[in-house]
Amino acid sequence: MKITAAEQTQARELAFLINLAGEGIPEYLWSALAEAGESPLDVGARRAAREEGGFSYHNARVCLDDSGELMGMVIAYRQPDPYDLDALSEYPDIVRPLVQLEAEAPGSWYINAIATDARFRGQGVATALMKDTEGSAREAGCRQMSLIVASQNRGARRLYEQLGYRGTHARPVVPYPGSPHGGDWVLMLKPL
Ligand SMILES: CC(C)(COP(=O)(O)OP(=O)(O)OC[C@H]1O[C@@H](n2cnc3c(N)ncnc32)[C@H](O)[C@@H]1OP(=O)(O)O)[C@@H](O)C(=O)NCCC(=O)NCCS
Repeated sequence: MKITAAEQTQARELAFLINLAGEGIPEYLWSALAEAGESPLDVGARRAAREEGGFSYHNARVCLDDSGELMGMVIAYRQPDPYDLDALSEYPDIVRPLVQLEAEAPGSWYINAIATDARFRGQGVATALMKDTEGSAREAGCRQMSLIVASQNRGARRLYEQLGYRGTHARPVVPYPGSPHGGDWVLMLKPL
């Protein structure tokens, strides 16, 4: 397998994986943005294909198998420093705890989304993508990694703990339609 920069043509696959990583929050938000005849995934694909924005394909790295099939992806970028919370009240209430946690790690390299297609799990894809994005962080001169995980997402937490990430802050999940669990959102950090 190989890890490389994502291409715009992969926007739909990226959107599908972004929604898995975001525990259904993206699909819920995209459904509110859908125009006539558009599915939530159509909206996600449209947004992933944009040149700007956190979920742009520009911020994505993909893991491909030997035949070019997309096995998994990571979306990561540097957080602003200082992190401005002035617009917090304008975010949907389900997103607000995530924004507040992001603000605890200004200037860090933030892993916004990581997911492996279900067919390729347990083969080290996510581990390889995490190491790849840590390399990008170092190249960008970042000294800290950050990510947010649901406290009840045990598989993902185990992955991050194995790689040296530690929980530092937590905020309760605000329930949303289709939310798989309650519990907390947990900010995990790792010094580089
Ligand atoms: C979490 C996820 C990204 C892991 O991807 P993966 O490519 O299967 O991960 P890896 O093969 O690199 O596994 C690395 C380690 O993660 C842990 N892990 C991954 N999935 C696990 C699971 N379901 N249960 C327990 N541990 C798990 C294990 O410790 C594993 O190491 P091991 O195999 O030596 O025990 C994948 O399950 C996924 O896409 N889940 C849905 C989206 C998601 O939850 N993303 C994270 C949101 S914060």
